[in-house]
Amino acid sequence: PPPTTTAAATSSPPPPPLTQDELKRMAAHRAVEYVKSGMVLGLGTGSTAVHAIRRIGDLLREGKLTGVVGIPTSKMTEEQATEAGIPLSDLESHPSVDLAIDGADEVDPQLNLVKGRGGSLLREKMIEGACKTFVVIVDESKLVDHIGGTGLALPVEVIPFCCNFTVERLRELFPDSGCRAELRRVGEKQVPFVTDNGNYIVNLYFERDFGDLNEASDRILRIPGVVEHGMFLGMATTLIVAGKLGVTVKEK
Ligand code: 5RP
Repeated sequence: PPPTTTAAATSSPPPPPLTQDELKRMAAHRAVEYVKSGMVLGLGTGSTAVHAIRRIGDLLREGKLTGVVGIPTSKMTEEQATEAGIPLSDLESHPSVDLAIDGADEVDPQLNLVKGRGGSLLREKMIEGACKTFVVIVDESKLVDHIGGTGLALPVEVIPFCCNFTVERLRELFPDSGCRAELRRVGEKQVPFVTDNGNYIVNLYFERDFGDLNEASDRILRIPGVVEHGMFLGMATTLIVAGKLGVTVKEK
């Protein structure tokens, strides 16, 4: 008689869990379904947004999208979009942006964001503030109950002039929240990180919740020397999250 095979012998092993990068790509590809021919697009910065840029480039090459124009949120994105074959423009030529797609460092249930750990927060905020639809794409590790309450950095872009003075002012700003302020430094020589705009980044770390987000935003922006911070409050219109159980979409 032919050998009998048991269920255990024939069943294949479960597929390996999706990597974080695969989750980022899933979220990005879902977001690109919002892109239509002829749109002006804000192109985000980072390891999640790059998947959207490549996907848009592929669709253009295949002729499935035509006439889109991209506005890059950083020099790195500009290079990636050029490589992907996306025609580029800027906010002066296209002051109204149809749709922006970008990643985030933290997202709360109201779709408030922390962005800028990659250092591109100023251009991101200018471009995403000018768009009708802002789709945020994340893997589920970025979801938080309260932004800024994770102990991770809230980036603030400051001008280099007397930056230690500005660091001190930022440090003093939230006395009840155990705020630490550190100039972001890079490389062996630990030189200040320089943004695409020639500025520096100060990372704020909080031991405790710093309370109302809009009030915190106003207090940070009132310090002379501060250019912008990485809290994006009330800007996102759509959130796409990729997790182990699939992709979910939340509209505001
Ligand atoms: C860059 C950003 C990025 O969107 C943010 O840091 C998320 O990056 P990633 O997709 O690589 O996790 O704000 O300034």
